[in-house]
Amino acid sequence: MPGSLEVVQIPVGQMQNFAYLVYCPATKTAAVVDPSFGPDAVLAQAEALDVKIRILLNTHGHNDHAAGNRVILEKTGVPLAVHPLDNPEADMALRDGLQVPVGKGTLQVLHTPGHTPGSVCLFTGEALITGDTLFVTRVGRADLPGSDPEALYHSLTRLAALPGDTQVFPGHHYGPTPTSTIAFERANNPFLRCPDLQSFIRLRMG
Ligand SMILES: [Fe+2]
Repeated sequence: MPGSLEVVQIPVGQMQNFAYLVYCPATKTAAVVDPSFGPDAVLAQAEALDVKIRILLNTHGHNDHAAGNRVILEKTGVPLAVHPLDNPEADMALRDGLQVPVGKGTLQVLHTPGHTPGSVCLFTGEALITGDTLFVTRVGRADLPGSDPEALYHSLTRLAALPGDTQVFPGHHYGPTPTSTIAFERANNPFLRCPDLQSFIRLRMG
C-alpha cells in the first residue's frame, strides 16, 4: 500500500478524549491530531516511536481537543492546521479536499460541519479520524453554539459512503469499543440508520 500511515490512539484526560499520533513508518515523520489534555503523552509516544512531528492538526476548535496545542507548538515549533471557521488564526487552513502530506502518506481533509462549523475529518485512505462528528455507535452533539443538525446529517451521510473497511478513530471513547469501521457504523449506529433528515433531527435533538 503506497504511503500507508499508522494511527496511534492515545486515551487522555477526564472526558474520555482520544489524542492521535499519525506517522509514516518509512520516513519516521508524524502529525499530531487533537493533543487534548495529553500533549506530554503524545510527545512521549513520538519519542518512543522515534518519529519527528511535522504538523499539528485539530479536528475542530473545542477546548477539550485543542487544550494541548500550546505545549505541542512550544516544544516542536510546527505549524497549526485547523479549519478557518473554527480557528481563523491557525497557520494553515484545513479546507475540504486539502491533502496534508505526512511523509509518504497524506491526510485528506473532509469538511464535516454540524457539531461545529469548522469540524473536519482526516482520511489516510484506510483510517478516518472523526473528531466529534462520528463516534462508535454515536454521533456528535448538534445543540451547542455553532452546531447545525442538518449539516451534521449531510456530513454523516458523506462519511457513511466511504469504503466499509475504513477504520473509524473517534475523538472520544463513548462507544463499546475504542475504534470501529464504517461498515460497523452503517449497521449499528442508530444515527446513521435514520432513513431521512427529519428522523435524524428527531433522534439527535429529541
Ligand atoms: Fe467537540
